[in-house]
Amino acid sequence: MGPIIQIGHLTVDGKKEFTSNVPQFGLGTFLMSEPGECFQAVLTALELGYRHIDTAMAYENEHEVGEAIAEAISRGIITRDELFVTTKLRQPHALGFEAAMQRCQESLKNLKLEFIDLYLVHAPPKNQEHRAPTWKGMEECLRNGWTKAIGVSNYGAHHLDNMRSYAKLLPAVNQIEVHPWLQRTALRAATESIGATVMAYSPLARGHKVDDPKLAKIASDIGCTPAQLAIKWCLDNGCITVPKSSNASRIEENLSSLEVKLEGHLDLFRELEENYISGWDPTSEA
Ligand SMILES: NC(=O)c1ccc[n+]([C@@H]2O[C@H](COP(=O)([O-])OP(=O)(O)OC[C@H]3O[C@@H](n4cnc5c(N)ncnc54)[C@H](OP(=O)(O)O)[C@@H]3O)[C@@H](O)[C@H]2O)c1
Repeated sequence: MGPIIQIGHLTVDGKKEFTSNVPQFGLGTFLMSEPGECFQAVLTALELGYRHIDTAMAYENEHEVGEAIAEAISRGIITRDELFVTTKLRQPHALGFEAAMQRCQESLKNLKLEFIDLYLVHAPPKNQEHRAPTWKGMEECLRNGWTKAIGVSNYGAHHLDNMRSYAKLLPAVNQIEVHPWLQRTALRAATESIGATVMAYSPLARGHKVDDPKLAKIASDIGCTPAQLAIKWCLDNGCITVPKSSNASRIEENLSSLEVKLEGHLDLFRELEENYISGWDPTSEA
């Protein structure tokens, strides 16, 4: 399962509230679109020892995540208390206070859960007027116990800074694309400066970079696979991370990244930085 880290929400007067514990390593579920694919991947991951699942309403697979969790609980593989589930409010649904609460309830229904562990705004609402009321709706979901923690995703430093003007509770997490080819030192620091933890998505740059010869060289020196190396770099930089795989052997391989030791090799990663965005990048939107 790997390390457990604490997340929480900084209040305007600098206290941490609504703290919770999160398994730092988990399974991503984006692009598991074949019927049954997500169910099988999540069930396999839970059997192997994963305890954190990252989904989103936009992935259209919350129901399969929920079915796999129910199956794992009924088979005695996990209890609900051992599991951490992250899901997200879609950017087009982030229209204000009521919309945030309504969509949270829909996600709970899809997942067949009584609470979500971490509920994220998937990306900054396009209409800037919607940002404050959407966050207030997220805060209400937290106060209602529908989720144990709230956060944002794809927020740039300017979006985070702006939240200080309207948030009663600052986000516990900012989920952003981070990997050795997009190290985001400044945005990680901005995230930490508001008391939030970085959650690294696409730690394998969506699989685009696992064949990078520079990465392969470091991996062969250390004695691990390139994918394990990229994942462990994210973890050793303090990020929660959620590599996706639908393949049982790669799900297992990625979990074993927790055993990789990077000591003495971290400097080599500086050469990998190339500001490589593998998907979308709403962090730079106005
Ligand atoms: N908040 C956001 O906007 C956002 C955006 C993107 C992603 N995410 C989250 O972050 C998760 C991870 O990101 P991601 O899915 O974009 O990409 P990723 O985890 O960086 O890479 C996934 C790709 O790498 C392949 N792969 C997995 N393990 C591998 C291994 N050991 N060796 C070689 N290839 C491997 C996968 O193929 P197989 O499945 O065939 O193994 C898949 O094609 C998502 O699933 C999602 O939960 C969030």
